[in-house]
Amino acid sequence: MATTTPTPHNAANPGDIAKTVLMPGDPLRAKFIAETYLENPVCFNTVRNMLGYTGTYQGKRVSVMGSGMGMPSIGIYSYELYHFYDVETIIRIGSAGGIADHVHVRDVVIGIGACTDSNYGSQFHLPGAFAPIGDFTLAQKAVQYAQEHKIHTIVGNVLSSDTFYGDDPDALPAWKKMGVLAVEMESAALYMNAARAGKRALCLLTISDCPFTGESLSAEERQTSFREMMEIALAIAE
Ligand code: ADE
Repeated sequence: MATTTPTPHNAANPGDIAKTVLMPGDPLRAKFIAETYLENPVCFNTVRNMLGYTGTYQGKRVSVMGSGMGMPSIGIYSYELYHFYDVETIIRIGSAGGIADHVHVRDVVIGIGACTDSNYGSQFHLPGAFAPIGDFTLAQKAVQYAQEHKIHTIVGNVLSSDTFYGDDPDALPAWKKMGVLAVEMESAALYMNAARAGKRALCLLTISDCPFTGESLSAEERQTSFREMMEIALAIAE
């Protein structure tokens, strides 16, 4: 779809956004990241309060912007970043519910693949099912950084679901049987948009809850585990 910048959802002008964008779901998290980790952060977007900032981290120009919740939301923002702002790389930094037995709260999951129950991929009119995957080079860098810095990560498949409050009690157990590590709501759309745009994406997820066991993190605990994920994301940003 042709459009010009600024877009209906993003007030940034061309050049305001770095080649690499970190994307938390929560726009206030984007503000916190910009103010905590970036030098000289400049806000480029306040439309719908989907805050976006550009600054530098250890000399690298980096942007951080909220994605909102769900595939339609990250679909819009990532599409515009890739197609209208020349963004090359989006690193999602989100939370997820752990569903595999060995995935617990505080763990960092590197979602190298994203299954989905969404119809998002139908727009591409493929004669089969697309397998949304993260960028291998970014994943490799993330794993290497985590190993070198003794950060525990679990690498594998996640589920991007259209529903947080799903009605089917058999759905998550079925994904679990297929070895899916965790459930969240955005990665598959980001990976599909990256693939279609010929760009790069990777999803890093902190486990905030475990739907099968009822484990969940307090707000303070979320902050601590979130720091390790942030460290990886900032290290692999180019
Ligand atoms: N994000 C964090 N926890 C989640 C869950 N249990 N389901 C979907 N998305 C999530």
